[in-house]
Amino acid sequence: AQAASALREERKKPLYQDDEYANMDWDNLGFGLTPADYMYVMKCSKDGEFTKGELNRFDNIQLSPSAGVYSQAIYEGTKAYRKENGKLLLFRPDHNAVRMQLGAERMLMPSPSVDQFVDAVKQTAFANKRWVPPSGKGSLYIRPLLMGSGPILGLGPAPEYTFIVYASPVGNYFKEGIAALNLYVEEEYVRAAPGGAGGVKSITNYAPVLKALSRAKSRGFSDVLYLDSVKKKYLEEASSCNVFVVKGRTISTPATNGTILEGITRKSVMEIASDQGYEVVEKAVHVDEVMDADEVFCTGTAVGVAPVGTITYQDKRVEYETGDESACQKLRSVLVGIQTGLIEDNKGWVTCI
Ligand code: COI
Repeated sequence: AQAASALREERKKPLYQDDEYANMDWDNLGFGLTPADYMYVMKCSKDGEFTKGELNRFDNIQLSPSAGVYSQAIYEGTKAYRKENGKLLLFRPDHNAVRMQLGAERMLMPSPSVDQFVDAVKQTAFANKRWVPPSGKGSLYIRPLLMGSGPILGLGPAPEYTFIVYASPVGNYFKEGIAALNLYVEEEYVRAAPGGAGGVKSITNYAPVLKALSRAKSRGFSDVLYLDSVKKKYLEEASSCNVFVVKGRTISTPATNGTILEGITRKSVMEIASDQGYEVVEKAVHVDEVMDADEVFCTGTAVGVAPVGTITYQDKRVEYETGDESACQKLRSVLVGIQTGLIEDNKGWVTCI
């Protein structure tokens, strides 16, 4: 309670927006929450339209104990990067906007228009500029979320919705930093089933993975790889990211058929890999193929492009190629180069604000 009240007091202080940087240890950023000064809030009116939103100080929000968030909530993740010249760059926020719209449609929620979403992300990034790490030290993670905020008792769509965008400076997602990950193939729990909502960035996909994830972490693994719910033989995704398998010049990734998330980093990496002459295949990836691969890597907004060093499946543990010459590192350096403005963006992926 003391910490919360100290934070509230801190937030009442005048802002020094002219400060170039917030007072942070930029060299030791992980993926913990350090709330940036402002959040954007927009409510949906009774007739299903989102009205003009506004920037408020980051603070707790008031919710009815009966708010519809217990069944309806989806979220996004996108990042702002600081270019060497100090300007801020956003990476494909319009794709997050479209994904939120598709997810909202699946969850019977109204959603902001693409323009409203992108404008909210831009305003949040710009207002929190001093929290965007120096070039090369990390990024400002921006979390847009949409929830049923109106009160409801039975099962049904909420009578009111709230869209919020907040932000936090971040570094590497995994405690391993940029070191290769050790993954565990989960056979007891599945993440999603055909016909369900595994392809939606809904909170309903993230609580059910926590048990398997926490068990794997307690055994020293970085994350869990889930298998399909029917045959339990085909790769789906990890708890926090998509996955790719490399064999020779072929890069395969599980096809998006409604059970896995259509990652924006996933599709960007697929395009970069094709540009580099790899054969990129979206298909059902058998676990035996994973165990026989040269390389495996993960992709996600939070995770970036992360090399996998080992995978453990049943009683087998396989080691993979990693390092500077790996496909993972080559793809990663092009993606990060585009995101941070070091490589010219001839794809129209970055927006300078
Ligand atoms: C992201 O990659 O942005 C996500 O939302 C994944 C989440 C598990 C942190």
